Amino acid sequence: MTYLRQLRRSSLRPALGALSLAVLAALAAPQPTHAAAEAPAETVCIQCHGSLPDRLGAPVKLWRTSIHSENGISCNACHGGDPKDAADAMNRSRGFLGAPKEPDIPAFCGRCHPGVLKDYLASAHGRALGKGGPTCVTCHGNHAVLKASLDLINEKSCTRCHSFERARIIKEAMQQTEGHIVGIDRKIKDYQAQGVDTERLGKSLFAVRNRFHTLFHEVNVTKVKAESNDINTELGKLDRDLKVVDEARAKRKVAGACAVAGALVLALLFHLMKKSYD
Ligand code: HEC
Ligand code: HEC
Ligand code: HEC
Ligand code: HEC
Ligand code: HEC
Repeated sequence: MTYLRQLRRSSLRPALGALSLAVLAALAAPQPTHAAAEAPAETVCIQCHGSLPDRLGAPVKLWRTSIHSENGISCNACHGGDPKDAADAMNRSRGFLGAPKEPDIPAFCGRCHPGVLKDYLASAHGRALGKGGPTCVTCHGNHAVLKASLDLINEKSCTRCHSFERARIIKEAMQQTEGHIVGIDRKIKDYQAQGVDTERLGKSLFAVRNRFHTLFHEVNVTKVKAESNDINTELGKLDRDLKVVDEARAKRKVAGACAVAGALVLALLFHLMKKSYD
């Protein structure tokens, strides 16, 4: 169920609440075995553009590799239009929006990523929109959008307009915190696999991780540093909780070993006693 997991950890919740409800309803309803995570249908948009050359055909190939394709976000989800009617597919009366001009791109993407849009608009990047600042597609691409990660912060991408200095500070602070999150996540998963009840710990980590992943788009060095400190304090608490679980398990192991040893001694005694009677 990677789709639902991604939906849950995404910042899309307000806009896609209804969609996820629909998905949940679809999952709950009796149904054939396929559905939710399936690749999007071959719409008339894909069929026609797939056979067109250059700038009209290229989006199809790029999109097929994207996280959007993986999650059923097809051409018409972004561009509007009627995906079932080849003749009128791109009619404005069918909701066709066309391709957004550069200054309109953030709002275009932000329909489904409202949290990110808000942070972006409040940032130095958002303030420079239309005046040399980057839009969503400058960093994520337009059709081949992949799962986001800190690898997107790199010299090649970030030095197109300014030095890497401030970007580096943000990346280093975030990488350190991410390492911490990944470590705790691994431990929780290990415990879970061993049958330990990790629900509460899992929920806490989930909340911290969501908070962490809303840090970037404001590109505010001071805020990233302060929030990273704060988040690391939260993670420190989780580390301590995990230690308590560790210690309890170690004690139980010792107790278990004692019980086994005790049973063996008793068995031996019984055996000896039985022998001396025989
Ligand atoms: C029968 C073929 C055909 C179908 C079906 C079709 N398109 Fe197009 N599309 C074209 C052609 C040809 C162009 C370039 C000429 C034009 O803009 O009208 C184009 C242009 C576009 C553009 C660029 C417009 C711009 O402003 O530069 C977008 C975006 C687009 N199509 C999306 C879609 C979507 C989404 C669908 C399905 C809802 C779709 N197309 C269905 C043939 C098609
Ligand atoms: C995640 C949203 C999204 C999806 C999904 C998407 N597009 Fe686009 N598309 C965009 C954006 C944004 C632009 C404008 C990009 C730019 O200026 O860099 C664009 C531009 C285009 C253009 C104009 C390209 C040009 O160079 O003039 C065409 C044609 C197009 N898309 C077709 C499609 C088709 C066909 C699909 C489905 C296979 C599709 N798009 C899926 C967001 C999307
Ligand atoms: C119609 C709704 C919709 C539009 C419009 C849209 N997206 Fe998405 N986007 C989604 C969904 C659904 C996902 C998958 C769930 C998730 O991971 O958040 C997603 C995932 C993503 C991810 C990966 C998130 C992650 O967790 O790593 C990025 C990055 C992204 N979109 C960027 C964009 C950009 C850039 C645009 C505009 C070109 C755009 N989106 C337009 C719905 C949309
Ligand atoms: C300057 C480059 C840059 C710009 C501009 C940018 N992003 Fe991002 N985006 C990133 C980076 C880097 C990450 C990864 C942050 C992380 O791992 O916490 C990211 C993460 C994301 C995610 C995943 C967030 C999550 O909750 O996991 C989404 C969705 C997304 N961006 C969408 C957008 C949209 C929509 C826009 C435009 C309004 C945009 N981005 C503008 C670089 C950028
Ligand atoms: C298309 C041009 C462009 C790209 C690409 C770009 N930036 Fe920027 N960035 C700007 C502009 C314009 C400003 C505002 C002027 C300034 O502070 O230099 C800015 C400012 C910043 C600031 C300072 C913010 C503040 O409030 O002081 C940081 C940090 C930053 N960018 C990080 C990044 C990172 C990280 C990347 C790569 C993921 C990136 N930028 C890519 C144009 C860009």
